Amino acid sequence: MYIDNQLLANMVDEARPISSEGRLVDYIPALKKENKDNLAVSVCFLNGEFFYAGDYLEKFTLQSISKVITLALVLMDNGEEEVFSKVGMEPTGDPFNSIVKLETNRVSKPLNPMINAGALAVTDMIKGATNEEKWERLLAFVNVLTGEEEVTYNKEVADSEFNTAFLNRSLGYFMKQHGIIKGDVEHLIYLYTKQCALEMNCQDLAKIGAVFANDGMDPVTGRQLITRDVARICKTFMVTCGMYNSSGEFAIKVGIPAKSGVSGGIMGSVPRKCGIGIFGPSLDETGNSIAGLRLLELMGNEYKWSIF
Ligand code: DON
Repeated sequence: MYIDNQLLANMVDEARPISSEGRLVDYIPALKKENKDNLAVSVCFLNGEFFYAGDYLEKFTLQSISKVITLALVLMDNGEEEVFSKVGMEPTGDPFNSIVKLETNRVSKPLNPMINAGALAVTDMIKGATNEEKWERLLAFVNVLTGEEEVTYNKEVADSEFNTAFLNRSLGYFMKQHGIIKGDVEHLIYLYTKQCALEMNCQDLAKIGAVFANDGMDPVTGRQLITRDVARICKTFMVTCGMYNSSGEFAIKVGIPAKSGVSGGIMGSVPRKCGIGIFGPSLDETGNSIAGLRLLELMGNEYKWSIF
């Protein structure tokens, strides 16, 4: 497989025009300011080598991509049995913020940790005596994964979502009523919106993708940051639920573990090959980066990345 920055730049140029067919996220006011035509990518190989194209050092918030990171931490904190007593393992086929299955399911726990309801249940399980302590642990974990000391969160985006997160509050209170959420729902929404506002660039995101691709081991330092089993579980969820209700189509067209966020970020993880970080804020109907998907399709075909 031959890859270089020029080849990636060509693919970015080919994928970028489809941005005009999507639109920016509309329900988090602070995210409406992004440039719709942006498209950037970074790829981190398991020998620690990086490639990139576009404005790959521009920062963006992780939004739902953070769900994979929190899940890894919480699985290591609490173990599988505890976590999966509160959240299921099945795809939903519904939009990421849907409430419907919480009521129609016989056991009213969220179907999986990648939808908002499931992610709220997972964030509620971060260990820590106070909200602040939980946040510090999550942040420290993210910094270990990126290998950068300075990753933090975008306060404007977090506040903007906190002030308008009525749907997530509904999910939270519904689950509180049914014993899935243990803590205070307002504290949980506060922590969750900060988690979603974690901010980094494509290179940092590619690095995290590479840790998952390398079965939890940091490809740069050789340290085991996530247990092998937890990395495997996270990648499996990325395949079955990572691209929401278009995860099936994505599995057929691209076929790699990946997780998107409504900011337009996508983290990809090609087992035993590389991690990928993409940012393209124009979204398709399901909330995935429209040009990011096209770019992944181009790269996946070129480099035969599909795991299937
Ligand atoms: O909870 C929310 O709605 C957002 N903070 C994150 C949702 C998201 O990124 C879904 N993405 N495709």
